[in-house]
Amino acid sequence: MNAAAGLASRFAELFGGAPRIFRAPGRVNLIGEHTDYNDGFVMPAAIQVATHVAIAPAQSRRLTLRSENLGETVAFELDEPGPRPRGDWSDYVRGVAITIGRSGRPISGANLLIHGNIPLGAGLSSSASLEVAVAVALLADSGVTMDPTQVALLCQRAEDEFVGARCGIMDQFTACNARANHALMLDCRSLDAAHFEIPRDLRLAVCNTMVKHELASGEYNRRRQQCEEGVRVLSEFIPGIRALRDITMEQLQEFGSTLHPTILRRCRHVVSENARVQAAAQALSRGDLEEFGELMRCSHLSLRDDYEVSCPELDVMVELALGLEGVYGSRMTGGGFGGCTISLVKAEWVDSFSRAMAQGYEKQTGMRPEIYICSAADGASEELF
Ligand code: GLA
Repeated sequence: MNAAAGLASRFAELFGGAPRIFRAPGRVNLIGEHTDYNDGFVMPAAIQVATHVAIAPAQSRRLTLRSENLGETVAFELDEPGPRPRGDWSDYVRGVAITIGRSGRPISGANLLIHGNIPLGAGLSSSASLEVAVAVALLADSGVTMDPTQVALLCQRAEDEFVGARCGIMDQFTACNARANHALMLDCRSLDAAHFEIPRDLRLAVCNTMVKHELASGEYNRRRQQCEEGVRVLSEFIPGIRALRDITMEQLQEFGSTLHPTILRRCRHVVSENARVQAAAQALSRGDLEEFGELMRCSHLSLRDDYEVSCPELDVMVELALGLEGVYGSRMTGGGFGGCTISLVKAEWVDSFSRAMAQGYEKQTGMRPEIYICSAADGASEELF
């Protein structure tokens, strides 16, 4: 029995009836970190780990959610006035349901059984994957069709307005629009996306430091504020700029002395990272993986030194990877302060890479890393079984 059929049969035992099943993937970002909320460029890919949602209509105006991973059931009325977050996983689901309702699309009561295999707190977008899987499930169950980019925007809004986390658009957009065997290059201002084929003999090796990024949300918001502060000051000298996306490195060099040194370093990361993403897209389109890898290495240094969102464990992992045979490049991925690194590895070297990373990382940190060898997956879909 495949995973979707298994989930459907457990749904039938729990709620009765035959559900439809939807999935939305996690993602790994190849390059372009902390650029999305600066209207910049990112280049993520979806990966095989995912959240699955089994759904069938209920007779009432109630959503009943069961998380298999947490062994918890939560229920709420769709029409409850003044809904408030509970501060747990169900907020992502409820936020999505409320945001769909507020967008003028009526959704129906339903039972949902949720199962995910994305490691939590590892920077692989388990929350965006949950939001998107639930959104496509609720919309389909209510007979509403919606363009995937609109679904992504709606989920981002739910996270911002209901859950209370001010994330960018990268994770939800990737969960909705990614394409198998391709990296997604996204302009986070226009939302124009291009898909770049990933060579068949290349693997995305995701290594988990096992350090949870708990510090991340406070520091994340602080970085956002620092970027906004940079734009505010620089706009006195460069009229018309709206975001760090609008600033060139030459302009930053010319007017950087007007910024507090910390703000200057934050801005330098974002401006240089945007240039790296564009160079990476060109490198990938001409098959120049050496160049792509070098841009990843520079991205990590910039995140470590200028943006200061790395941590010793991420640095150890990147150093280790860069010293191994068959590795084009390596860097931290996601928000930082823990979580995972991404390394581009030639397929034939993947086994020796995994062994050496596991041994080397444990020797230096005393922690056993998890290593996931991925290739790029498709965005959200209905699972037929
Ligand atoms: C988190 C956010 C994204 C993005 C990254 C950093 O994953 O959810 O929107 O800002 O951090 O690149």
